[in-house]
Amino acid sequence: MALLEMTNISKSFFGVPVLQNVNFSVEEGEVHALLGENGAGKSTLMNILAGVYTRDAGNVVFDGKKLTRATIKGSEDVGIAFVHQELNLFNDLRVFENIFLRKEITTRLGRLDKATMIRKSEALFTQLGVDIDPTMVVSELEAGKKQQLEIAKALFANAKLFILDEPTTALNNEEIEHLFESIRRLKKQGKAFIFISHKMTEIFAIADRYTVLRNGEYIDSGKIDKTVSPRDVARMMVGNRYSDLSVYQSRELGDVVIEADGLTGHNFRNVHFSVRKGEIVGFTGLLSAGISEIFQTIFGGLPIHGGTLTIKGQRVHNWSIHEAMRNRLAMIPSNRKENSLLPDASLLENEYVSEHTLSGRIQHIFAKRELSNYNALKDVLNIKANSAADLITSISGGNQQKVVLARWLNTESDILLMDNPTQGIDVGAKAEIYRLIHELARDGKTILVNSLEIPELQQVADRCLVFYQGQLQTELSRAELTEENVMLWATNAIHAAEVLSR
Ligand SMILES: Nc1ncnc2c1ncn2[C@@H]1O[C@H](COP(=O)(O)OP(=O)(O)OP(=O)(O)O)[C@@H](O)[C@H]1O
Ligand SMILES: [Mg+2]
Repeated sequence: MALLEMTNISKSFFGVPVLQNVNFSVEEGEVHALLGENGAGKSTLMNILAGVYTRDAGNVVFDGKKLTRATIKGSEDVGIAFVHQELNLFNDLRVFENIFLRKEITTRLGRLDKATMIRKSEALFTQLGVDIDPTMVVSELEAGKKQQLEIAKALFANAKLFILDEPTTALNNEEIEHLFESIRRLKKQGKAFIFISHKMTEIFAIADRYTVLRNGEYIDSGKIDKTVSPRDVARMMVGNRYSDLSVYQSRELGDVVIEADGLTGHNFRNVHFSVRKGEIVGFTGLLSAGISEIFQTIFGGLPIHGGTLTIKGQRVHNWSIHEAMRNRLAMIPSNRKENSLLPDASLLENEYVSEHTLSGRIQHIFAKRELSNYNALKDVLNIKANSAADLITSISGGNQQKVVLARWLNTESDILLMDNPTQGIDVGAKAEIYRLIHELARDGKTILVNSLEIPELQQVADRCLVFYQGQLQTELSRAELTEENVMLWATNAIHAAEVLSR
Protein backbone atom coordinates (compact mmCIF):
# COMPACT_ATOMS: atom_id res chain seq x y z
CA MET A 1 0.00 0.00 0.00
CA ALA A 2 1.21 3.46 -0.82
CA LEU A 3 2.31 5.77 1.99
CA LEU A 4 0.20 8.58 0.56
CA GLU A 5 -2.87 8.26 -1.60
CA MET A 6 -4.67 11.41 -2.73
CA THR A 7 -7.70 10.72 -4.93
CA ASN A 8 -10.06 12.97 -6.88
CA ILE A 9 -8.82 16.14 -5.23
CA SER A 10 -10.61 19.28 -6.39
CA LYS A 11 -10.17 22.88 -5.33
CA SER A 12 -11.42 26.25 -6.53
CA PHE A 13 -10.45 29.76 -5.47
CA PHE A 14 -13.30 32.26 -5.79
CA GLY A 15 -15.07 29.97 -8.25
CA VAL A 16 -11.98 29.41 -10.41
CA PRO A 17 -11.04 25.72 -10.49
CA VAL A 18 -7.36 25.18 -9.69
CA LEU A 19 -7.36 21.41 -9.17
CA GLN A 20 -9.80 19.00 -10.80
CA ASN A 21 -10.05 15.33 -9.78
CA VAL A 22 -6.33 15.00 -9.21
CA ASN A 23 -4.85 11.64 -8.17
CA PHE A 24 -1.44 11.47 -6.58
CA SER A 25 0.32 8.72 -4.67
CA VAL A 26 3.72 8.34 -3.02
CA GLU A 27 5.45 5.13 -1.88
CA GLU A 28 7.57 4.71 1.20
CA GLY A 29 11.29 5.37 0.60
CA GLU A 30 10.90 7.16 -2.73
CA VAL A 31 11.57 10.65 -4.02
CA HIS A 32 8.57 11.62 -6.08
CA ALA A 33 8.93 14.61 -8.39
CA LEU A 34 5.73 16.64 -8.74
CA LEU A 35 6.00 18.41 -12.08
CA GLY A 36 4.07 20.98 -14.04
CA GLU A 37 4.29 24.46 -15.49
CA ASN A 38 3.88 27.62 -13.41
CA GLY A 39 0.36 27.74 -12.02
CA ALA A 40 -0.33 24.04 -12.72
CA GLY A 41 -1.47 23.53 -9.11
CA LYS A 42 1.55 21.84 -7.49
CA SER A 43 1.83 24.10 -4.45
CA THR A 44 -1.95 24.13 -4.02
CA LEU A 45 -2.04 20.31 -3.93
CA MET A 46 0.75 20.33 -1.34
CA ASN A 47 -1.00 23.01 0.71
CA ILE A 48 -4.05 20.78 0.79
CA LEU A 49 -1.98 17.81 1.93
CA ALA A 50 -0.32 19.88 4.66
CA GLY A 51 -3.61 21.31 5.89
CA VAL A 52 -2.93 24.90 4.82
CA TYR A 53 -5.96 24.86 2.48
CA THR A 54 -9.07 22.72 2.75
CA ARG A 55 -10.04 20.68 -0.30
CA ASP A 56 -13.45 21.02 -1.93
CA ALA A 57 -13.61 17.31 -2.76
CA GLY A 58 -11.54 14.14 -2.71
CA ASN A 59 -9.84 11.79 -0.28
CA VAL A 60 -6.46 11.71 1.40
CA VAL A 61 -5.14 8.50 2.96
CA PHE A 62 -1.78 8.73 4.70
CA ASP A 63 0.01 5.85 6.38
CA GLY A 64 -3.16 3.77 6.32
CA LYS A 65 -5.33 6.46 7.89
CA LYS A 66 -7.89 8.68 6.23
CA LEU A 67 -7.18 12.37 6.83
CA THR A 68 -10.56 13.99 7.18
CA ARG A 69 -10.36 17.42 8.75
CA ALA A 70 -6.98 18.64 7.56
CA THR A 71 -5.15 21.19 9.68
CA ILE A 72 -1.47 22.19 9.68
CA LYS A 73 -0.98 20.72 13.13
CA GLY A 74 -2.90 17.58 12.20
CA SER A 75 -0.69 16.91 9.20
CA GLU A 76 2.47 17.51 11.26
CA ASP A 77 1.20 15.12 13.91
CA VAL A 78 0.72 12.26 11.43
CA GLY A 79 4.26 12.77 10.09
CA ILE A 80 4.18 15.24 7.19
CA ALA A 81 6.83 17.99 7.10
CA PHE A 82 6.59 20.87 4.63
CA VAL A 83 9.29 23.12 3.20
CA HIS A 84 7.30 25.91 1.59
CA GLN A 85 8.15 27.48 -1.76
CA GLU A 86 8.26 30.86 -0.05
CA LEU A 87 10.35 30.82 3.11
CA ASN A 88 8.43 30.60 6.32
CA LEU A 89 10.87 31.66 9.02
CA PHE A 90 10.60 34.15 11.85
CA ASN A 91 13.17 36.74 10.89
CA ASP A 92 13.39 38.35 14.33
CA LEU A 93 14.07 35.09 16.14
CA ARG A 94 17.37 33.31 16.40
CA VAL A 95 18.17 30.27 14.30
CA PHE A 96 17.75 27.73 17.12
CA GLU A 97 14.51 29.41 18.23
CA ASN A 98 13.11 28.83 14.76
CA ILE A 99 14.07 25.16 14.85
CA PHE A 100 12.54 24.59 18.27
CA LEU A 101 9.46 26.75 17.77
CA ARG A 102 6.55 25.02 19.53
CA LYS A 103 8.95 22.20 20.43
CA GLU A 104 10.97 24.14 23.02
CA ILE A 105 13.16 22.17 25.41
CA THR A 106 12.85 23.27 29.01
CA THR A 107 14.91 22.60 32.12
CA ARG A 108 13.44 20.80 35.11
CA LEU A 109 12.56 24.20 36.54
CA GLY A 110 10.52 24.98 33.47
CA ARG A 111 12.96 27.51 32.03
CA LEU A 112 13.95 27.43 28.36
CA ASP A 113 17.04 25.24 28.04
CA LYS A 114 18.87 27.36 25.49
CA ALA A 115 22.19 25.55 25.81
CA THR A 116 20.64 22.21 24.90
CA MET A 117 18.66 23.66 22.00
CA ILE A 118 21.81 25.34 20.63
CA ARG A 119 23.82 22.13 21.00
CA LYS A 120 21.14 20.08 19.24
CA SER A 121 20.92 22.66 16.44
CA GLU A 122 24.69 22.42 15.96
CA ALA A 123 24.51 18.63 15.80
CA LEU A 124 21.71 18.84 13.24
CA PHE A 125 23.70 21.24 11.03
CA THR A 126 26.82 19.08 11.23
CA GLN A 127 24.82 16.06 10.16
CA LEU A 128 23.36 17.95 7.20
CA GLY A 129 26.65 19.53 6.19
CA VAL A 130 25.26 23.02 6.79
CA ASP A 131 27.38 25.89 8.11
CA ILE A 132 25.06 28.10 10.17
CA ASP A 133 25.58 29.60 13.64
CA PRO A 134 22.45 28.63 15.67
CA THR A 135 22.63 31.81 17.74
CA MET A 136 22.37 34.20 14.81
CA VAL A 137 19.21 36.21 14.23
CA VAL A 138 17.53 34.87 11.09
CA SER A 139 17.28 38.28 9.41
CA GLU A 140 21.08 38.41 9.31
CA LEU A 141 21.39 35.20 7.28
CA GLU A 142 21.84 35.37 3.53
CA ALA A 143 19.11 33.86 1.37
CA GLY A 144 20.82 30.51 0.76
CA LYS A 145 21.37 29.99 4.49
CA LYS A 146 17.74 30.81 5.20
CA GLN A 147 16.67 28.19 2.70
CA GLN A 148 19.03 25.66 4.29
CA LEU A 149 17.63 26.49 7.71
CA GLU A 150 14.09 26.02 6.47
CA ILE A 151 15.04 22.58 5.10
CA ALA A 152 16.97 21.62 8.24
CA LYS A 153 13.99 22.60 10.36
CA ALA A 154 11.74 20.27 8.35
CA LEU A 155 14.23 17.40 8.34
CA PHE A 156 14.51 17.79 12.12
CA ALA A 157 10.86 16.87 12.44
CA ASN A 158 10.61 13.14 12.77
CA ALA A 159 8.36 12.95 9.72
CA LYS A 160 7.57 10.08 7.36
CA LEU A 161 6.95 12.29 4.35
CA PHE A 162 8.78 15.49 3.47
CA ILE A 163 7.36 17.99 1.01
CA LEU A 164 10.11 20.08 -0.62
CA ASP A 165 8.51 22.80 -2.74
CA GLU A 166 11.35 24.26 -4.84
CA PRO A 167 13.89 23.89 -2.05
CA THR A 168 16.96 24.87 -4.07
CA THR A 169 16.13 28.26 -5.65
CA ALA A 170 18.59 30.09 -3.37
CA LEU A 171 21.18 27.32 -2.99
CA ASN A 172 24.49 26.97 -4.79
CA ASN A 173 25.58 23.69 -6.34
CA GLU A 174 27.56 22.57 -3.34
CA GLU A 175 24.65 23.23 -0.99
CA ILE A 176 22.35 21.34 -3.34
CA GLU A 177 24.69 18.35 -3.25
CA HIS A 178 24.60 18.40 0.59
CA LEU A 179 20.82 18.44 0.48
CA PHE A 180 20.75 15.49 -1.91
CA GLU A 181 23.09 13.52 0.35
CA SER A 182 20.69 14.09 3.25
CA ILE A 183 17.74 13.03 1.13
CA ARG A 184 19.51 9.83 0.06
CA ARG A 185 20.39 9.01 3.65
CA LEU A 186 16.83 9.54 4.88
CA LYS A 187 15.45 7.54 1.95
CA LYS A 188 17.42 4.53 3.14
CA GLN A 189 15.52 4.83 6.42
CA GLY A 190 12.26 4.55 4.47
CA LYS A 191 11.40 8.26 4.46
CA ALA A 192 9.54 9.58 1.43
CA PHE A 193 9.94 12.93 -0.35
CA ILE A 194 7.78 14.97 -2.67
CA PHE A 195 10.19 17.09 -4.66
CA ILE A 196 9.10 20.10 -6.71
CA SER A 197 11.62 21.79 -9.00
CA HIS A 198 11.86 23.41 -12.42
CA LYS A 199 15.48 22.35 -12.77
CA MET A 200 15.76 19.30 -14.96
CA THR A 201 19.21 18.26 -13.73
CA GLU A 202 17.91 18.08 -10.16
CA ILE A 203 14.92 15.97 -11.09
CA PHE A 204 17.15 13.46 -12.85
CA ALA A 205 19.69 13.48 -10.04
CA ILE A 206 17.29 12.76 -7.19
CA ALA A 207 13.82 11.57 -8.23
CA ASP A 208 12.65 7.95 -8.55
CA ARG A 209 9.19 8.68 -9.96
CA TYR A 210 7.24 11.62 -11.31
CA THR A 211 3.70 12.88 -11.57
CA VAL A 212 2.76 15.65 -13.98
CA LEU A 213 -0.05 18.16 -13.51
CA ARG A 214 -1.22 20.55 -16.19
CA ASN A 215 -3.86 23.23 -15.66
CA GLY A 216 -4.94 21.60 -12.44
CA GLU A 217 -5.40 18.17 -13.98
CA TYR A 218 -3.54 14.92 -13.53
CA ILE A 219 -1.62 14.06 -16.73
CA ASP A 220 0.72 11.15 -16.07
CA SER A 221 2.95 9.29 -13.60
CA GLY A 222 5.94 7.03 -14.15
CA LYS A 223 9.46 6.08 -13.27
CA ILE A 224 12.45 8.33 -13.83
CA ASP A 225 14.81 5.93 -15.56
CA LYS A 226 16.70 5.46 -18.80
CA THR A 227 13.49 5.36 -20.83
CA VAL A 228 12.72 9.04 -20.15
CA SER A 229 14.92 11.99 -21.11
CA PRO A 230 14.96 15.52 -19.69
CA ARG A 231 13.37 16.57 -22.94
CA ASP A 232 10.46 14.12 -22.45
CA VAL A 233 9.91 15.46 -18.96
CA ALA A 234 10.03 19.07 -20.19
CA ARG A 235 7.43 18.25 -22.85
CA MET A 236 5.19 16.63 -20.27
CA MET A 237 5.44 19.72 -18.11
CA VAL A 238 4.77 22.48 -20.59
CA GLY A 239 3.53 20.70 -23.71
CA ASN A 240 4.32 22.34 -27.01
CA ARG A 241 5.72 25.46 -25.42
CA TYR A 242 8.95 23.57 -24.89
CA SER A 243 11.70 23.74 -27.46
CA ASP A 244 15.35 23.00 -26.85
CA LEU A 245 16.47 24.81 -29.99
CA SER A 246 19.20 27.35 -29.41
CA VAL A 247 17.96 30.95 -29.34
CA TYR A 248 21.49 32.38 -29.29
CA GLN A 249 22.38 34.96 -31.94
CA SER A 250 25.46 37.12 -32.08
CA ARG A 251 25.12 40.85 -32.75
CA GLU A 252 27.14 44.04 -33.25
CA LEU A 253 28.51 45.52 -30.04
CA GLY A 254 28.94 49.19 -29.18
CA ASP A 255 31.31 51.10 -26.88
CA VAL A 256 32.28 49.98 -23.40
CA VAL A 257 29.50 50.94 -20.97
CA ILE A 258 30.67 49.26 -17.75
CA GLU A 259 34.27 49.10 -16.68
CA ALA A 260 35.47 47.62 -13.39
CA ASP A 261 39.13 48.31 -12.71
CA GLY A 262 40.45 46.59 -9.61
CA LEU A 263 36.96 46.91 -8.18
CA THR A 264 36.78 45.82 -4.55
CA GLY A 265 33.72 45.67 -2.33
CA HIS A 266 31.70 43.54 0.04
CA ASN A 267 32.84 39.89 -0.52
CA PHE A 268 34.80 40.53 -3.73
CA ARG A 269 38.19 42.04 -4.50
CA ASN A 270 40.36 43.36 -7.30
CA VAL A 271 37.94 42.54 -10.08
CA HIS A 272 38.65 43.67 -13.65
CA PHE A 273 36.18 43.45 -16.51
CA SER A 274 34.49 45.58 -19.12
CA VAL A 275 31.18 45.17 -20.89
CA ARG A 276 30.13 46.70 -24.20
CA LYS A 277 26.79 48.12 -25.23
CA GLY A 278 24.51 45.37 -26.55
CA GLU A 279 26.53 42.64 -24.92
CA ILE A 280 25.15 39.78 -22.81
CA VAL A 281 27.72 38.66 -20.25
CA GLY A 282 27.24 35.63 -18.03
CA PHE A 283 28.57 35.57 -14.47
CA THR A 284 28.87 32.30 -12.61
CA GLY A 285 30.52 30.72 -9.59
CA LEU A 286 29.91 28.33 -6.72
CA LEU A 287 30.47 29.01 -3.04
CA SER A 288 30.09 32.68 -2.04
CA ALA A 289 31.44 33.75 -5.38
CA GLY A 290 30.56 37.38 -4.65
CA ILE A 291 28.62 37.95 -7.86
CA SER A 292 25.38 39.11 -6.22
CA GLU A 293 27.47 41.63 -4.29
CA ILE A 294 29.16 42.84 -7.49
CA PHE A 295 25.73 43.37 -9.06
CA GLN A 296 24.47 45.19 -5.97
CA THR A 297 27.54 47.42 -6.00
CA ILE A 298 27.05 48.31 -9.67
CA PHE A 299 23.41 49.06 -8.81
CA GLY A 300 24.45 51.39 -5.98
CA GLY A 301 23.18 49.19 -3.16
CA LEU A 302 26.61 48.40 -1.68
CA PRO A 303 29.65 50.67 -1.27
CA ILE A 304 32.83 50.52 -3.34
CA HIS A 305 35.83 49.76 -1.12
CA GLY A 306 38.56 50.11 -3.72
CA GLY A 307 39.36 50.32 -7.40
CA THR A 308 37.15 52.13 -9.87
CA LEU A 309 33.82 51.62 -11.53
CA THR A 310 33.06 53.50 -14.71
CA ILE A 311 29.56 53.53 -16.12
CA LYS A 312 28.86 55.03 -19.54
CA GLY A 313 32.19 56.81 -19.46
CA GLN A 314 31.63 58.44 -16.05
CA ARG A 315 33.68 57.31 -13.08
CA VAL A 316 31.21 56.53 -10.32
CA HIS A 317 31.26 58.68 -7.14
CA ASN A 318 28.59 58.80 -4.43
CA TRP A 319 26.73 56.07 -6.20
CA SER A 320 23.27 55.11 -4.90
CA ILE A 321 20.36 53.05 -6.17
CA HIS A 322 18.57 56.23 -7.10
CA GLU A 323 21.58 57.46 -9.09
CA ALA A 324 21.87 54.06 -10.76
CA MET A 325 18.21 54.12 -11.75
CA ARG A 326 18.54 57.67 -13.06
CA ASN A 327 21.39 56.40 -15.20
CA ARG A 328 19.01 53.75 -16.49
CA LEU A 329 20.34 50.75 -14.71
CA ALA A 330 17.88 48.05 -13.65
CA MET A 331 18.27 45.17 -11.25
CA ILE A 332 16.43 41.88 -10.84
CA PRO A 333 17.55 40.72 -7.39
CA SER A 334 18.18 37.13 -6.45
CA ASN A 335 15.57 36.64 -3.79
CA ARG A 336 12.09 37.42 -4.99
CA LYS A 337 10.14 37.36 -1.76
CA GLU A 338 12.55 39.46 0.26
CA ASN A 339 13.92 41.83 -2.34
CA SER A 340 11.36 42.18 -5.09
CA LEU A 341 7.74 41.84 -4.15
CA LEU A 342 5.28 44.33 -2.72
CA PRO A 343 3.08 41.72 -1.07
CA ASP A 344 0.07 43.93 -0.41
CA ALA A 345 -0.06 45.30 -3.93
CA SER A 346 -1.62 44.10 -7.15
CA LEU A 347 0.11 42.53 -10.11
CA LEU A 348 -0.03 45.78 -12.02
CA GLU A 349 1.34 47.83 -9.14
CA ASN A 350 4.15 45.33 -8.72
CA GLU A 351 4.94 45.53 -12.38
CA TYR A 352 5.07 49.34 -12.50
CA VAL A 353 6.69 50.19 -9.19
CA SER A 354 10.10 50.86 -10.74
CA GLU A 355 8.84 53.04 -13.54
CA HIS A 356 6.71 55.02 -11.11
CA THR A 357 9.56 55.50 -8.69
CA LEU A 358 11.64 56.89 -11.52
CA SER A 359 9.01 59.16 -12.95
CA GLY A 360 7.77 60.25 -9.53
CA ARG A 361 4.30 58.99 -10.36
CA ILE A 362 3.85 56.82 -7.28
CA GLN A 363 0.10 57.12 -7.26
CA HIS A 364 -1.47 55.93 -10.42
CA ILE A 365 -4.70 54.92 -11.92
CA PHE A 366 -4.84 52.01 -14.33
CA ALA A 367 -3.56 53.84 -17.35
CA LYS A 368 -4.58 52.29 -20.63
CA ARG A 369 -1.03 52.02 -21.88
CA GLU A 370 0.11 50.20 -18.77
CA LEU A 371 -2.68 47.72 -18.99
CA SER A 372 -2.03 47.01 -22.65
CA ASN A 373 1.71 46.60 -21.97
CA TYR A 374 0.84 44.26 -19.17
CA ASN A 375 -1.41 42.21 -21.39
CA ALA A 376 1.25 41.93 -24.10
CA LEU A 377 3.87 40.69 -21.65
CA LYS A 378 1.32 38.46 -19.98
CA ASP A 379 0.90 36.64 -23.28
CA VAL A 380 4.60 36.44 -24.11
CA LEU A 381 5.60 35.20 -20.66
CA ASN A 382 2.43 33.12 -20.26
CA ILE A 383 1.60 34.76 -16.93
CA LYS A 384 -1.24 32.81 -15.37
CA ALA A 385 -3.49 35.24 -13.53
CA ASN A 386 -7.11 36.28 -13.67
CA SER A 387 -6.85 40.04 -13.38
CA ALA A 388 -4.10 42.64 -13.21
CA ALA A 389 -5.85 43.92 -10.09
CA ASP A 390 -5.31 40.64 -8.19
CA LEU A 391 -2.90 40.59 -5.28
CA ILE A 392 0.58 39.45 -6.29
CA THR A 393 0.50 36.86 -3.50
CA SER A 394 -2.49 35.12 -5.06
CA ILE A 395 -0.54 33.91 -8.08
CA SER A 396 1.93 31.02 -8.18
CA GLY A 397 5.64 31.50 -7.39
CA GLY A 398 6.86 31.24 -10.97
CA ASN A 399 4.21 33.65 -12.15
CA GLN A 400 5.28 36.16 -9.51
CA GLN A 401 8.82 35.98 -10.88
CA LYS A 402 7.49 36.66 -14.38
CA VAL A 403 5.84 39.83 -13.05
CA VAL A 404 9.18 40.89 -11.51
CA LEU A 405 10.82 40.45 -14.92
CA ALA A 406 8.01 42.31 -16.65
CA ARG A 407 8.57 45.17 -14.19
CA TRP A 408 12.04 45.80 -15.55
CA LEU A 409 11.23 45.08 -19.15
CA ASN A 410 8.83 48.00 -18.88
CA THR A 411 11.33 50.58 -17.71
CA GLU A 412 13.47 52.45 -20.18
CA SER A 413 16.59 50.94 -18.62
CA ASP A 414 19.50 50.19 -20.88
CA ILE A 415 21.75 48.23 -18.51
CA LEU A 416 20.05 45.23 -16.91
CA LEU A 417 21.58 43.34 -14.01
CA MET A 418 19.80 40.00 -13.74
CA ASP A 419 20.57 37.98 -10.64
CA ASN A 420 19.18 34.46 -10.95
CA PRO A 421 16.40 35.79 -13.23
CA THR A 422 14.58 32.54 -13.99
CA GLN A 423 14.27 31.30 -10.40
CA GLY A 424 11.16 29.15 -10.16
CA ILE A 425 10.19 29.68 -13.79
CA ASP A 426 9.05 26.67 -15.82
CA VAL A 427 11.03 25.41 -18.80
CA GLY A 428 8.56 26.79 -21.34
CA ALA A 429 8.66 30.35 -20.04
CA LYS A 430 12.43 30.15 -19.59
CA ALA A 431 12.83 29.74 -23.34
CA GLU A 432 10.64 32.83 -23.88
CA ILE A 433 12.74 34.82 -21.43
CA TYR A 434 15.95 33.84 -23.25
CA ARG A 435 14.40 35.02 -26.49
CA LEU A 436 13.41 38.31 -24.83
CA ILE A 437 16.92 38.82 -23.48
CA HIS A 438 18.27 38.52 -27.01
CA GLU A 439 15.66 40.92 -28.32
CA LEU A 440 16.67 43.47 -25.69
CA ALA A 441 20.34 43.07 -26.56
CA ARG A 442 19.56 43.54 -30.26
CA ASP A 443 17.85 46.79 -29.28
CA GLY A 444 21.18 47.89 -27.77
CA LYS A 445 20.57 47.03 -24.12
CA THR A 446 23.45 45.66 -22.10
CA ILE A 447 22.73 42.61 -19.96
CA LEU A 448 24.62 40.97 -17.10
CA VAL A 449 23.22 37.60 -16.04
CA ASN A 450 24.23 35.78 -12.86
CA SER A 451 23.25 32.13 -13.10
CA LEU A 452 24.33 28.75 -11.78
CA GLU A 453 22.61 26.93 -14.61
CA ILE A 454 25.09 26.36 -17.39
CA PRO A 455 22.39 25.50 -19.98
CA GLU A 456 20.91 28.93 -19.25
CA LEU A 457 24.24 30.68 -19.82
CA GLN A 458 24.74 28.69 -23.01
CA GLN A 459 21.41 30.00 -24.28
CA VAL A 460 22.08 33.67 -23.56
CA ALA A 461 25.68 34.65 -22.89
CA ASP A 462 28.25 35.97 -25.38
CA ARG A 463 30.95 35.04 -22.87
CA CYS A 464 31.09 34.08 -19.24
CA LEU A 465 33.11 35.32 -16.26
CA VAL A 466 33.79 32.65 -13.62
CA PHE A 467 34.33 33.65 -9.98
CA TYR A 468 35.68 31.89 -6.94
CA GLN A 469 35.36 33.45 -3.47
CA GLY A 470 35.07 36.99 -4.69
CA GLN A 471 37.80 36.79 -7.30
CA LEU A 472 37.54 36.60 -11.04
CA GLN A 473 39.15 33.33 -12.14
CA THR A 474 38.77 33.37 -15.90
CA GLU A 475 36.69 34.37 -18.85
CA LEU A 476 35.18 31.61 -21.00
CA SER A 477 34.15 32.15 -24.61
CA ARG A 478 30.97 30.51 -25.87
CA ALA A 479 33.00 27.63 -27.27
CA GLU A 480 34.63 27.09 -23.87
CA LEU A 481 31.40 27.41 -21.92
CA THR A 482 30.84 23.83 -20.73
CA GLU A 483 29.81 22.35 -17.40
CA GLU A 484 33.32 20.84 -16.97
CA ASN A 485 35.15 24.09 -17.67
CA VAL A 486 32.97 26.07 -15.31
CA MET A 487 33.49 23.50 -12.55
CA LEU A 488 37.21 23.58 -13.10
CA TRP A 489 37.42 27.33 -12.66
CA ALA A 490 34.65 27.87 -10.16
CA THR A 491 36.47 25.73 -7.61
CA ASN A 492 40.02 26.15 -6.39
CA ALA A 493 42.74 23.86 -7.76
CA ILE A 494 42.53 21.16 -5.07
CA HIS A 495 38.81 21.12 -5.35
CA ALA A 496 39.03 20.94 -9.12
CA ALA A 497 41.16 17.80 -9.04
CA GLU A 498 38.61 16.21 -6.73
CA VAL A 499 35.73 17.03 -9.05
CA LEU A 500 37.51 15.69 -12.11
CA SER A 501 38.44 12.42 -10.46
CA ARG A 502 34.83 11.66 -9.50
N1 LIG B 1 -4.63 31.92 -2.34
C1 LIG B 1 -4.98 31.92 -3.63
N2 LIG B 1 -5.97 32.70 -4.09
C2 LIG B 1 -6.35 32.69 -5.38
N3 LIG B 1 -5.77 31.92 -6.33
C3 LIG B 1 -4.77 31.12 -5.95
C4 LIG B 1 -4.31 31.08 -4.59
N4 LIG B 1 -3.30 30.18 -4.51
C5 LIG B 1 -3.13 29.70 -5.75
N5 LIG B 1 -4.01 30.25 -6.62
C6 LIG B 1 -4.11 29.95 -8.06
O1 LIG B 1 -4.01 28.57 -8.23
C7 LIG B 1 -3.28 28.25 -9.42
C8 LIG B 1 -2.22 27.23 -9.09
O2 LIG B 1 -1.22 27.83 -8.28
P1 LIG B 1 -0.05 27.00 -7.62
O3 LIG B 1 0.64 27.94 -6.71
O4 LIG B 1 -0.57 25.75 -7.06
O5 LIG B 1 0.87 26.69 -8.90
P2 LIG B 1 2.25 25.91 -8.99
O6 LIG B 1 2.03 24.70 -9.82
O7 LIG B 1 2.80 25.71 -7.63
O8 LIG B 1 3.16 26.93 -9.84
P3 LIG B 1 4.70 27.43 -9.66
O9 LIG B 1 5.53 26.46 -10.42
O10 LIG B 1 4.74 28.76 -10.35
O11 LIG B 1 5.00 27.53 -8.22
C9 LIG B 1 -2.71 29.55 -9.93
O12 LIG B 1 -3.42 29.93 -11.08
C10 LIG B 1 -2.93 30.53 -8.80
O13 LIG B 1 -3.22 31.82 -9.29
MG1 LIG C 1 4.37 26.54 -6.59
